Amino acid sequence: MNFEFTEEQKMIQQAAKDFAERELLPDIIERDANSRFPAEQVKKLAELGFLGMMTSPEYDGGGMDTISYVLAMEEISKIDSSTAVMMSVCNSLVNWGLETFGTEEQKQKYLKPLARGEKIGAFLLSEPEAGSDATKQRTTAVDMGDYYLLNGTKNWITNANSASTYLVIAHTNPEKGHKGINAFIVEKSWPGITLGPHEDKMGMRSSDTHSVMFTDVKVPKENRIGEDGFGFTFAMKTLDGGRIGIASQALGIASGALERAIKYSKERKAFGTEICNHQAIAFKLADMAVKVENARNLCLKAAWMKDEHLNYGIMSAYAKQYAADIAMEVTTEAVQIHGGYGYVKEYHVERLMREAKLTQIYEGTSEVQKIVISRSLLK
Ligand code: CAA
Repeated sequence: MNFEFTEEQKMIQQAAKDFAERELLPDIIERDANSRFPAEQVKKLAELGFLGMMTSPEYDGGGMDTISYVLAMEEISKIDSSTAVMMSVCNSLVNWGLETFGTEEQKQKYLKPLARGEKIGAFLLSEPEAGSDATKQRTTAVDMGDYYLLNGTKNWITNANSASTYLVIAHTNPEKGHKGINAFIVEKSWPGITLGPHEDKMGMRSSDTHSVMFTDVKVPKENRIGEDGFGFTFAMKTLDGGRIGIASQALGIASGALERAIKYSKERKAFGTEICNHQAIAFKLADMAVKVENARNLCLKAAWMKDEHLNYGIMSAYAKQYAADIAMEVTTEAVQIHGGYGYVKEYHVERLMREAKLTQIYEGTSEVQKIVISRSLLK
């Protein structure tokens, strides 16, 4: 077993770190306060190839492996999870879903500009009454012959405003349960699509989150992904990979908080010495570091399994559940180590703590991951 990264993987990790420190850090506090989308930074991220990094070169992507993606996601999430989540949705949900299950025509038309980073994608599964219980889709796509008529509302959609390409999950045949669900490629510019207001979130405030309403939207037949009834499997398989992205994001939030806590503990003095010299603080740092390392290993194992074409769905659930839960614990301890300074914006750890919370909620709550894991143990 080789735990050494290749030179290329190390280069990608360094490029992501440099980008995050140079481009994302300077205005992160202001963007968070004003819920401002990082439009300029996203353009630069696209130019560097990060938005299509795992798509194959045949479709204008970077052809990089999932290990490199985990490394890049960790570095960007240490500084700015709002940018990291848009990158994760583009790479693991939209591009991967299209490359793996799309027709050649769909890939030429929709995947290529996404992989080049000229367009942004969004994944529309969640609904007001179908979050964790994803089979309970109320959005309908009625077969009208040569097109489907799409009606319904999607909630909590990352990249809803910035994206031009939506992957939308809808029921075409509700009486068939999850076998009557389909996935469609929908262009945001089509008539009948409206967005709700930008969500005023607790964390990841500068990511672009809205609800999306569809009223009699005509979707051409050729925009259905896969065979009739494939939509739920499509969503589940795509989320298996998406969870590696969000696990890596949670990892980055935790490792960013740990780095900041170590730095602060070596500078801040109390009771006659730097606080890192007090065992109460040093032991906290040790506990945090063990959790971060465990999370990193799970993310990398899930990524390696995906790259080796092994069955990685369960490992991605392990990684997502563990990394999200420890991100909450590690960031909370980082705030504690900073004392009063941890509770104000300047020291960044309060933001990391708010961001960590979301990783326990989206792309499947920690409880959803436990459903997936426990079912695999008990079957
Ligand atoms: N791969 C392939 N097929 C799968 C699968 C997988 N990973 N998981 C389930 N399936 C199949 C099952 O085999 C089953 O098929 P059959 O009936 O033919 O055997 C079918 O799908 C139904 O499966 P379940 O009975 O297990 O379904 P369930 O209703 O019990 O739900 C669940 C399972 C894991 C809880 C699922 O509903 C789920 O993952 N919910 C969470 C949804 C989620 O993550 N939403 C996030 C939205 S995206 C987002 O947040 C993006 C963003 O913007 C940041």
